[in-house]
Amino acid sequence: MADWNPNLYLRFADERTQPARDLAARVVLSTEQPRIIDLGCGPGNSTAVLRVRWPQAREITGLDSSPAMIETARKAQPEGRWEVGDASAWTDPTGEGYDLVFSNAVFHWVPNHAELFPRLLALVKPGGALAVQMPAKAYPALHKLIVETADAEPAWREATQKSRGVIRVLEPGAYYDLLSPQAARVEIWETRYHHVMDQAGAVIDWLRSTGLRPWLDALPSDEDRARFEEKLRAGAGVIYPAQADGKVRFPFGRIFLVAYRA
Ligand SMILES: C[S@@+](CC[C@H](N)C(=O)[O-])C[C@H]1O[C@@H](n2cnc3c(N)ncnc32)[C@H](O)[C@@H]1O
Repeated sequence: MADWNPNLYLRFADERTQPARDLAARVVLSTEQPRIIDLGCGPGNSTAVLRVRWPQAREITGLDSSPAMIETARKAQPEGRWEVGDASAWTDPTGEGYDLVFSNAVFHWVPNHAELFPRLLALVKPGGALAVQMPAKAYPALHKLIVETADAEPAWREATQKSRGVIRVLEPGAYYDLLSPQAARVEIWETRYHHVMDQAGAVIDWLRSTGLRPWLDALPSDEDRARFEEKLRAGAGVIYPAQADGKVRFPFGRIFLVAYRA
């Protein structure tokens, strides 16, 4: 896939950052000066949340596989520690352990959660936490529209076969079973946000920098991409009718996990 586009991603920065605020607010650490890593920090919006929540943190590192995202984060917060790296292969270079391993809206892009989640919790110090948020059954009606639109033309159906399994999130019980053997406590909850957008097409603008990337990247040409988007915009107008004031609600489901290391 092409690299992430920080500017497009930040168009809905407030809505995208709210789950990071909600997740960080729920985490209680035993130290005022935690050592923290933000895996998949993006343009640094979630890392900034951590800085506000733990102002006396001993160390906060933002790690992301996208050079463009890290460059944007570094420009916005030059005082921060930033690294380009793959969260799926990441390990604590010091062996010291972290008080908080945090990740907001990232791991649905990363495969093999059965190996990943226990390994990340093992990098947390006793009493510390692994805290993760991912979209979960996030926008079922829109997802159905995306699949049906791709299936409507044979060339699109063929080109997008691999786009279908890119986002992977397990059921809540599976995460409980993966984390509880090493955890003193596991907290899991789900939230459905109702984001208010100016019009239905904005939902497609939102997804263009995230969930639509594997689909758009797979299409054969710019002309296909433009036509595909046009069809989605028309369909989104049906799925998300206007409220009384003309605005549109974009319901979006997310799962949150906090595991405290035993
Ligand atoms: C939806 S953004 C989330 C950004 C930020 N954490 C937030 O709360 O808005 C997903 C980020 O995950 C990063 N990412 C995806 N796969 C990754 C991986 N394997 N390792 C590190 N970062 C990854 C992307 O580059 C992107 O910046």
